[in-house]
Amino acid sequence: MAKTLDLERILSKQGFGTRKQCRIMIFNEEITVNGEMCDDPDAEFSLENLSYTVKGEAWDYKEKSYLMMHKPANYECSHKTQHHPTIYSLLPHPLVERDVQCIGRLDEDTTGLILISDDGQFIHKMSSPKHKVPKIYEVTCKHPVSEANIHALLGGVQLLDEPETIAALAVIQISERVIHMTLAEGKYHQVKRMVAAISNRVEGLKRIQIGGLKLPDDLKVGEWRWLSADDIGKLVSTF
Ligand code: URA
Repeated sequence: MAKTLDLERILSKQGFGTRKQCRIMIFNEEITVNGEMCDDPDAEFSLENLSYTVKGEAWDYKEKSYLMMHKPANYECSHKTQHHPTIYSLLPHPLVERDVQCIGRLDEDTTGLILISDDGQFIHKMSSPKHKVPKIYEVTCKHPVSEANIHALLGGVQLLDEPETIAALAVIQISERVIHMTLAEGKYHQVKRMVAAISNRVEGLKRIQIGGLKLPDDLKVGEWRWLSADDIGKLVSTF
């Protein structure tokens, strides 16, 4: 039997406020479920393929949220930011209320693909060093990158405070100063520190892929979207 839940609890679980606040919206006829207005907070609905609107905005019921965002520069990946706005300000309020978290942080000046979820197990698996989910960065360097530099990155470079050398999984030269670098770890400022270790400097950094999931060409800077089952498959196939 498909799981059912009353409307008041459904809305509250989905991030639309306390049960009391949701009850008021329902009484105020601000909610439709599967195409019909419902003013009964105790009405039970199957959670399967449930769609609803809140004040005219359409939503699908999601037990857990899995999103990707094209992070802009000058945004911080933290709920409580210090100098810049938070990436969470780019999401609809109910998602933030559900306490979504980004999976691994990008520096404030880094752009590109970031995953966001409220599924603790998924976050743990994706970020656990044990699973080594590869991430690909497009790195624009200040100085030309030589073949010897690429060799060094692939062979492993020594970073301050790291017990062992760290190697890139792959490095592809795109142009004189631009490389695509694949990393298995997500250490603090890892790309910038590895590039500094070859006596160069990062001038632009964009994450373009996580596991098998590429940053979609049509996901504009600052935009987000739900991960499809296919997207999630491309992520979890890496562990
Ligand atoms: N490496 C960095 O140096 N910065 C990032 O934001 C991500 C990886």
